[in-house]
Amino acid sequence: VAAVEATRGGGNVTPGLGGAEPRAGRCSLVLTGFMGAGKTTTARILADTLGVEAVDTDALLEARFGRPVPRIFEQEGEAAFRAAEEQVVTEVLERSGPPAVVALGGGAVESERVQAALAGHLVVLLEVDAPTAWARAAGDRPLARDRAAFEARMARREPLYERLADAVVPPLPVTALPALAPALAFLRDHAPGGTRLVWAHSGSGDYPVLAGRGLLGGAWPVPGRRFVISDETVARLYPRAVPDPAAVLAIAPGEAHKSLATAEMVWRALAREGMTGADHLVALGGGVVGDLAGFAAATYRRGVPVVQVPTTLVAQVDSALGGKTGVDLPEGKNYVGAYHQPAAVLVDPATLETLPAPELAAGWAEVVKTALIAGGPLWSRVSDGVLDDDVILACARVKLAVVAQDERDSGRRQVLNLGHTVGHAIETATGYERYRHGEAVGLGLLAALRLSGRDALRDEVAALLGARGLPTALAPALEADELVALTARDKKRRGAAPVPFVLVDAPGRVAHGHAVDDGDLRAAVRELGAT
Ligand SMILES: NC(=O)c1ccc[n+]([C@@H]2O[C@H](COP(=O)([O-])OP(=O)(O)OC[C@H]3O[C@@H](n4cnc5c(N)ncnc54)[C@H](O)[C@@H]3O)[C@@H](O)[C@H]2O)c1
Repeated sequence: VAAVEATRGGGNVTPGLGGAEPRAGRCSLVLTGFMGAGKTTTARILADTLGVEAVDTDALLEARFGRPVPRIFEQEGEAAFRAAEEQVVTEVLERSGPPAVVALGGGAVESERVQAALAGHLVVLLEVDAPTAWARAAGDRPLARDRAAFEARMARREPLYERLADAVVPPLPVTALPALAPALAFLRDHAPGGTRLVWAHSGSGDYPVLAGRGLLGGAWPVPGRRFVISDETVARLYPRAVPDPAAVLAIAPGEAHKSLATAEMVWRALAREGMTGADHLVALGGGVVGDLAGFAAATYRRGVPVVQVPTTLVAQVDSALGGKTGVDLPEGKNYVGAYHQPAAVLVDPATLETLPAPELAAGWAEVVKTALIAGGPLWSRVSDGVLDDDVILACARVKLAVVAQDERDSGRRQVLNLGHTVGHAIETATGYERYRHGEAVGLGLLAALRLSGRDALRDEVAALLGARGLPTALAPALEADELVALTARDKKRRGAAPVPFVLVDAPGRVAHGHAVDDGDLRAAVRELGAT
């Protein structure tokens, strides 16, 4: 059983963390995105919330020409419109004066002059999906008359929007927009240059995910006293990651300590340390700390906020995001828990430099899983073996996008369990000791690809896992019958129905809820070396 150790403040300066300069100067928030993304409305709401001016470059163009945009287009042609737009936009971006919130015409980013002028500002991409954009723009805009051309233009611009964005915001209800303002202001004024923000949206709460090197050890985005929960290894390595903590509770590292016994010690230590509802927890560590601290936050005094600070690859691409928290029972993994969305997630990829290679490899299995779910550019990069800061953030976005659709696992979120049904059975059969979670998930992915009948993809994934030293076969062998029986105890099972599997048609085409025959399952785990 873990010892909980409480210390206050102090510690040595952590090499590699903190000290990076925030973005210089008085930059504006510049909203980009395709037609129909809601740039004008969002700019007005953010500007009101921040008490600054809202500037709409399309409105400025209309004022300059004395005509609405569609008429300028019709009468002057697109080229003349773009030239005037470039002029107006660069004037706005290069003017001196107090920072504003600027709604940029959707096509302005295609100008190289505009791109250069954006470098001095905080660029916020408002995402919109093609059907919504079309529904909002069709008919009354000159470039929204032919649907195929509209969607082709959108696809062409997408990589440009992505490349320029410091912050990415998914489609949000208008009432959820004001909460963005302080997070964007924090990113602009306090986060190290180069930090990016992804806004997480879900049914029970929205929060910023901030990702960048040098993010830890600097300013803190959430008000209130900070009670840090970490494990002994991470607390020793990163004593200054969280500024001025009210207390640091360090549990013993390892899955064995993601238990109710540890949770009780944490609750009691927090009570002794005088933590109140005005304070928040900080989960500084891997998925074990994140799940346990998140669970403690969901339950201590019926719920306090938690900031997740993931320091393993597993946690940065997966466990710190989406609000699932909990502990294991001897009878089953993650059997007791709660949904509790974080108040913020701070990802500093520099922390991975101290992560032992097998832990990094375990995270790679989750990266491969996420890329299989996403398909597209992420799969292309991951299938080339690339793991960098962009891949980490892209994986985080895939997870957030799934959670935004289905926070509570009733539908789409189940795709995130790709590889997990067999993975969890392997972990349970080996008492959580033989395999890391990610290693078991890697094996589970191979079983899922066999069950999907995707032999070539299974070989490709086995090679990707093997290249980073992950196991592609069980050693020592487990009993196939035991693994099949354990999958039937999976949490995803509802009532007496067979446990549903997530299967893969192709990268990017993954579906949940498949019934799988016991015989097929036995064959898939035998292929992993089960007897
Ligand atoms: N909540 C979710 O949605 C979700 C999703 C996936 C996994 N999980 C859970 O996450 C857990 C696994 O997480 P994990 O793989 O991060 O394991 P972990 O938390 O046990 O961390 C692995 C090891 O790395 C050490 N460590 C952490 N950060 C370090 C750093 N920067 N440098 C050096 N050492 C460091 C830890 O002390 C530990 O020994 C499992 O319990 C799993 O169920 C939860």
